[in-house]
Amino acid sequence: MKGVAIKDLGKFDGQEITLQGWLYNKRGKGKLIFLILRDGTGYVQCVAFKNDMSEEAFADAKSLSQEASVEIVGKVRADDRAPGGYEINVTDLKIVQNPTEQYPLAIADNVPNIDKLLDIRHLWMRSKKPAAILKIRHEILQALRTYLYENEYTCVDSPMFQPTAAEGTSTLFEIPYFDLGNAYMSQSGQLYVEAPCHVFKKVYTFGPCFRAEKSYTRRHLTEFWMLEPEIAFADINDVMDSAEGLISYTVKHVLEKCGKELEILERDKSILEKIVAPFPRISYQDACEQIIAKRKELLESDQEELREIGKNAMSEPGDDFGAADETVLGLIYDKPVMVHSYPWKIKAFYMKRTPENHELAACVDVIAPEGFGEIVGGSEREDNIEQLFENMKLHNLPTEPYEWYLDLRRFGSVPHGGYGLGLERFIAWVTGTHHIRECSPFPRTIKRLNP
Ligand code: 4AD
Ligand code: MG
Repeated sequence: MKGVAIKDLGKFDGQEITLQGWLYNKRGKGKLIFLILRDGTGYVQCVAFKNDMSEEAFADAKSLSQEASVEIVGKVRADDRAPGGYEINVTDLKIVQNPTEQYPLAIADNVPNIDKLLDIRHLWMRSKKPAAILKIRHEILQALRTYLYENEYTCVDSPMFQPTAAEGTSTLFEIPYFDLGNAYMSQSGQLYVEAPCHVFKKVYTFGPCFRAEKSYTRRHLTEFWMLEPEIAFADINDVMDSAEGLISYTVKHVLEKCGKELEILERDKSILEKIVAPFPRISYQDACEQIIAKRKELLESDQEELREIGKNAMSEPGDDFGAADETVLGLIYDKPVMVHSYPWKIKAFYMKRTPENHELAACVDVIAPEGFGEIVGGSEREDNIEQLFENMKLHNLPTEPYEWYLDLRRFGSVPHGGYGLGLERFIAWVTGTHHIRECSPFPRTIKRLNP
């Protein structure tokens, strides 16, 4: 690579440089052609004037199709009217590849049919908005890892092929596994990361998770990434402190690093600027009361959309929150809300019960504002082996395949807890993207396996 990055053009004002990239747009005729080049760091207008170039190079410039790959040699010129502050006066041009077919995407990002766009995801990601989301995803990944690194969490990966369910048997992807029967694709790395938690105290695992959920909603993928920290000698407050620290740090990082991308996505930065610790912490019971009260208000709204949310929200406590309940909570608060102490019976087998009330789980769900729903789920883990046996019986789980997990309670068991942050849900919220399928490079849903 010998090219200069478009974002660095300011360092080369007045100099002749080479740019390597793709043709985003072309206009002009006669002796003057304007080429908009993109290179992944920015966009720049390159002005090809017949008299400044060889006849051959000018003819090449004229022949370029959208998305042609090119090397452009030219002089950098400061220009206040140019979007990045600079333009290029082209002196030479080399075609790397010039498409002979019509590019399937128009210049505008907002081609209406999302399914058609997802069919050409491999090309669509070159457009401004999807590229901005992918860049923010990258910065979020970086920030999450940096926060955990700086807070001395050790990363220990967990397996994708697992012999048992981590989050309930109804959403397991099953695959034949040689002579060993069936394996299941990981729904969560949690059970595994509890092992190194008893080695390093603060750990995390970060990888793909697979759920055969029949849910086809804006919040569900069949393959998504989950970041799962786990902390020894910790209670639910430590778990909430960690999640709150991680989330606020990461949002701040995005605000610092991704101003340009947030602008492309028309994301209101002032909304994200409010995401600072502390986040509200409320019990499930309180949350239900707030939802039910807000529901009444929504049902009387003059906006159809709000009435619809109200209709789908809970009218009495008892169940786990549905999408509408989470949306209602997200309307009440402008920060992520940490809802704790859910009824134990609607939660996973490994969750510890609260010391005050045996019917409640020492757990937390973090609900994002603006209707983006649950971005984090976590809990204290049952560390008493007798109680864990009891829990497994209640969940109809055989204990034999979990023997290794039970060993963690047999040898130096300690109070511990952790949480899982759904990466794509988190990105959807931060970027203000309605549907999480746009937050995965190659989304997988019950209706999509391609490309
Ligand atoms: O609440 P969940 O199911 O929790 C667990 O899996 C725990 N074992 C985590 C832990 O304590 N270590 O999932 C955690 C998060 C959810 O809050 C959500 O953000 C995301 O994972 N998630 C999904 N994201 C996209 N598509 C799906 N189908 C998802 N299911 C869960
Ligand atoms: Mg959950």
